[in-house]
Amino acid sequence: MKNLQQDKNKKLQHLLSIEGLNKDIVERIFNDADKFLENKDTEFDGYTSLSGKTVCNLFFENSTRTQTTFEIAAKRLSANVINLDIATSSQSKGESILDLINNLIAMSVDIFVIRHSKPGIPELIAKNIKSDAHIINAGDGNREHPTQGLLDAFTIREFKKDFSTLKVAIVGDIEHSRVAKSQINILATLGAKEIRVIGPKSLMPRNIDDLDVNVFNTMEEGLKDVDVVMMLRIQKERMSNKTVPSESNYFKSFGLNQKRLKIAKDDAIVLHPGPINRGVEIESKVADGMQSVILNQVKNGIAIRMAVMAMMVGNK
Ligand code: CP
Repeated sequence: MKNLQQDKNKKLQHLLSIEGLNKDIVERIFNDADKFLENKDTEFDGYTSLSGKTVCNLFFENSTRTQTTFEIAAKRLSANVINLDIATSSQSKGESILDLINNLIAMSVDIFVIRHSKPGIPELIAKNIKSDAHIINAGDGNREHPTQGLLDAFTIREFKKDFSTLKVAIVGDIEHSRVAKSQINILATLGAKEIRVIGPKSLMPRNIDDLDVNVFNTMEEGLKDVDVVMMLRIQKERMSNKTVPSESNYFKSFGLNQKRLKIAKDDAIVLHPGPINRGVEIESKVADGMQSVILNQVKNGIAIRMAVMAMMVGNK
């Protein structure tokens, strides 16, 4: 199958998934993100990378962090930014998503940042557009959220230098989480020593045994000796009423509290992509505690998204 993500010169054309992205490109994104984050390289002229370009945020599902950080990232790179309000757009009049995209291309949009509840929509668009516009997947159903995977790994790298020594636990609703899929893929790409998934059997994907992960159904076993704990919320919006667990029972079995965090290594860090549901998957004392790097993830999201867009379109 044609590699949609890289063009014939191996340049990043679209970002649709972590799957298929090699370690070299991930490391180049991290190195560029370092420069944007710290602004330490005064010779780095990336800040005008998107001058004269237009970035369009198309969010068919709600977002706080992803949409806002893409907008900030694009503006820091000197782009024009459009946030199309889907609810008041002509989608309600029956316009197809490809017609919507082609109309925006006629308005000279260069990068589309797309979030959609249906898995595969960004890929479908990337396959069908008749221009050089770039597509970035900002989360498609339960499939992937590649910039979240990148910023999560970039945050781990800030605190833990060598992925090959790390035991990482991803905890919660693995089945419905696109973040979990991108996290598993990027940790594998970067050569993490062990990837664990922890959660109730009912929230594990059917193909979990095909993935290179170790599965645990209790926190007490799964958190033992881990360096990194990546918490996830329960994705109620992707469940039928029958499968939604009771919040209090879930917290009793899988909530991360201070006592459970002590099972992990003393210097373990805690991540969460947000939005967090306090008292459901994580206790406030942990979310706001010394080991939490949740707000580092948010800050790093801007640098990672700058690096991705600059790499795709950069005038340099
Ligand atoms: N992490 C994440 O995707 O958050 P938002 O849904 O707020 O964008």
